[in-house]
Amino acid sequence: MSVPLSTIRSAFFLLFTQDPRRLYTLLGIPEGKRYLNLGYWERSDMNLEEACDELVRKVGSLARLRAEDIVLDVGFGFGQQAVLWVEEFACRKIFGINVTPLHLNESNALIRRRGLQEVIRYQLGDAVAIPFRANCFDKVLALECAFHFKTREKFFREAYRVLKPGGLLVTADIIRGKVRGRWPNQVGHRLFGFLQERFWQIPAENRNDISQYRRYLERAGFSEIMATDVSDKVFGSLVSYYLSKSQPHEDLLIRLLLNMTRGFCRSGYLRYTLSRASKPGPAPGEEQ
Ligand SMILES: C[S@@+](CC[C@H](N)C(=O)[O-])C[C@H]1O[C@@H](n2cnc3c(N)ncnc32)[C@H](O)[C@@H]1O
Repeated sequence: MSVPLSTIRSAFFLLFTQDPRRLYTLLGIPEGKRYLNLGYWERSDMNLEEACDELVRKVGSLARLRAEDIVLDVGFGFGQQAVLWVEEFACRKIFGINVTPLHLNESNALIRRRGLQEVIRYQLGDAVAIPFRANCFDKVLALECAFHFKTREKFFREAYRVLKPGGLLVTADIIRGKVRGRWPNQVGHRLFGFLQERFWQIPAENRNDISQYRRYLERAGFSEIMATDVSDKVFGSLVSYYLSKSQPHEDLLIRLLLNMTRGFCRSGYLRYTLSRASKPGPAPGEEQ
């Protein structure tokens, strides 16, 4: 395996920036189905694409997506998820915002190829300054991206503003847990965690555990908050999947990193949550 020096240099510089656009421009375009999430591993024999589809489905079901919903998809990646919501939930109107121009261009190309221009509309836009008026969406969905936002709490307030009364915010998100074990473990995990946060462009303000997460949602005005820890369905199988794909001799560094990541996830430092919160008011479709 040979990684060009320029890529290593760019990856190193990511440690000193706070701009997800740089990260995603460096990561480029994935092969196969273009997802950028960790997947939901319902069964251990799934492949990555199936697991990613499953996570998208989980978010759609949690949001109780219906044909008549007007949906905002925040951080839409390569646009793959909205296509599934159209095909499997019959959504007829999805708007999306994203800060990465590469993702906007590729997603627009995908919906043109699928002939979905009338159903899905993407534009550049920041989750913490959503370029839409108040009370205009039935659902706001943020699939594995709110940890990037500066800050996640500001995004919750923005999501609340643009939702109609009775509307739902659904997130799939990576948060903080508590590190188990004695102090050498604690120090090691904190250091590795710090480097991971720098590399993955996660602002320090977003080091929230599940109770803070709920508190931020409440403070934004949401009620009927449900936040479930699904780490077991996300991290473990994903790492095993990559380990089974990598070649022991060629990918020594990758295997080392994957094993470190597995230990890191098992330590409880990172948690994966699926959450739903409601803007008080009659559910869309139930208004007088
Ligand atoms: C981990 S990817 C997830 C993409 C997609 N949801 C998926 O599951 O494949 C995070 C996405 O969030 C976008 N993003 C990061 N910061 C953002 C912000 N402040 N506002 C809107 N989108 C943002 C990135 O450009 C990227 O597309």
